[in-house]
Amino acid sequence: MAEVTSHGLGPVILMGPPGAGKGTQAKRIAEHYCIPQISTGDLLRDHVCRATPLGLQAKDIMAQGGLVPDELLYGMVAERLREADCDRGFILDGFPRTAGQAGWLDEYLKQELFDKSKPGACLPIVIQIDVDYNELLSRLTGRRSCPACGRIYNVHLQPPRVDELCDVDGSKLVTRNDDREEVIRERLQAYEKLTRPVIDYYGRQGRVVAVDGGLPVDQVSELIFRELHGHGC
Ligand code: AP5
Repeated sequence: MAEVTSHGLGPVILMGPPGAGKGTQAKRIAEHYCIPQISTGDLLRDHVCRATPLGLQAKDIMAQGGLVPDELLYGMVAERLREADCDRGFILDGFPRTAGQAGWLDEYLKQELFDKSKPGACLPIVIQIDVDYNELLSRLTGRRSCPACGRIYNVHLQPPRVDELCDVDGSKLVTRNDDREEVIRERLQAYEKLTRPVIDYYGRQGRVVAVDGGLPVDQVSELIFRELHGHGC
């Protein structure tokens, strides 16, 4: 793994179907470049956990594998992007996921981040991670994560050293509520129908770099770092 760099990276958008490895790779990029991972899934799960008005509206939709309506997300994402740690860049993991969200983000970046006085002001790079359907199913049904530090495991592919316990802090690992086969199918359908067109949209602007997400985790990271290396602001 390369060293942490001191320059800003600007916005990085990670796209790919559920289970492609967005969260896994986002954590590595965040650590390497010292910029935050912004996962709309994690932010929403936190709202659900705290039973906020947003969480109450999102809970059932998420449990069924659907997408939370666009307009419910904008305030949450804007609030997060305005935090000071985003000034040198940030990684969007799971956002945008619809044409509406992509349009909103473009407008937001134009108005707020493309203020040249901000160091993180540069065009986003979109990394598309793609993986075969059957591999996605096995990744998602085997996924476990640490409720304390967020580290992601897989009982088949990346098991913890001690069964069901986090290597880092020993917490008992948990299974996500939407990692059940019938819900996974809905999530994959939502991705094909609503999110694939977003990749096409960025593709037409020449911003997409495709990475083979079927490779082992370290190799996927290498490919991503190679692409990001020349991208800094
Ligand atoms: P979200 O939390 O974003 O879930 P997702 O997009 O379905 O993606 P996942 O987190 O399931 O997968 P990932 O690609 O991050 O894979 P991971 O690295 O964990 O969204 C959840 C829900 O929130 C949505 O369904 C929706 O309801 C709502 N939501 C969120 N954002 C929204 C938005 N913008 N608009 C509307 N609604 C929204 O890896 C998966 C497993 O594979 C792990 O076990 C990992 O260890 C393993 N693995 C990873 N990489 C590899 C590899 N290279 N080789 C082998 N195993 C690997």
